[in-house]
Amino acid sequence: MQRKVSVIGSGNVGATAARSIADKELADVVVLDILEGIPQGKGLDMLEACPVEGSDARVLGTNDYADTAGSDIVVVTAGLARKPGMSRDDLLTKNCAIIKSVTEQVVEHSPDCIIIPVTNPLDAMCQVVYRVSGFPRERVIGMAGVLDSARMRTFIAQALDVSVENTHAFVLGGHGDTMVPLPRYSTVAGVPITELLDQDTIDAIVKRTAGGGAEIVKLLGTGSAYYAPGSAVVEMVEAILKDKKKILPCAAFLQGEYGISDLFVGVPVKLGARGLEQIVQIELSESEQAALDKSADAVRELVQIIAM
Ligand code: APR
Repeated sequence: MQRKVSVIGSGNVGATAARSIADKELADVVVLDILEGIPQGKGLDMLEACPVEGSDARVLGTNDYADTAGSDIVVVTAGLARKPGMSRDDLLTKNCAIIKSVTEQVVEHSPDCIIIPVTNPLDAMCQVVYRVSGFPRERVIGMAGVLDSARMRTFIAQALDVSVENTHAFVLGGHGDTMVPLPRYSTVAGVPITELLDQDTIDAIVKRTAGGGAEIVKLLGTGSAYYAPGSAVVEMVEAILKDKKKILPCAAFLQGEYGISDLFVGVPVKLGARGLEQIVQIELSESEQAALDKSADAVRELVQIIAM
């Protein structure tokens, strides 16, 4: 394969995403972790799945950043996962230090790559990657909105007993408790859910979406979600590698869009070969804008703590 995607962190999210990228034959995959043996073992295991999957992707597990050299995309999942009762924000300081050192090494070996941060708290970690890498905003795009929208789509499909393929969901803001699911722009076969569901049901869907990560953390008891996050990463990787110009909600560095500056916040963006190719601006009502501002304030608070 000519394309190369490196995944930093061979834990649950990293391994799930890596396996899917290899299975879909989107690129050769390098999986890197600080743990010795784990990325090598998982990488070899994934490689040995490829004959069955019909994929000629080459998968390599490693502890050495030299193996990631020349990556087109680097997905960063390294860090600590949330434990029950622990908010995403509790992770801030520890993951900040990890992300700083990971970014330095990624940039040294793949100066032209597109970085997709996944580690939580997501928007703040994007800010760290952006500042440390010195990359333009087009090449640092955080994964959060695709996941949050997938959760909302799941609940919409369940409520209306329709195919998930007919659903579209819009979630803006930070990837945290203040995220802003937008029912007005969430549709089933093009029809806004505000015309299909009563207000109580919509409120319940919005609430469950915002608490979607915590719901899984509580059920698992240890660790956090990884199947849906893994799938969400792969949708972004595929959109970029195939230059699909796909509009997806992602964490992007805003410079005045939506009235927000110098901060990563989830908004709809166009993803293509150049990474973030456009920030799509939609009309917001007063209350929607107020909710987005509040969410941005929550992100800004974290960013100030880590002085990024
Ligand atoms: N360099 C490389 N890998 C690292 C480093 C580092 N400096 N520090 C930790 N790791 C690795 C760990 O060894 C572990 O294998 O990151 C991996 C994280 O995997 P998990 O603990 O399984 O966590 P996971 O569920 O994959 O979540 C990773 O994504 O969704 C977010 O909140 C989640 O921040 C978390 C991240």
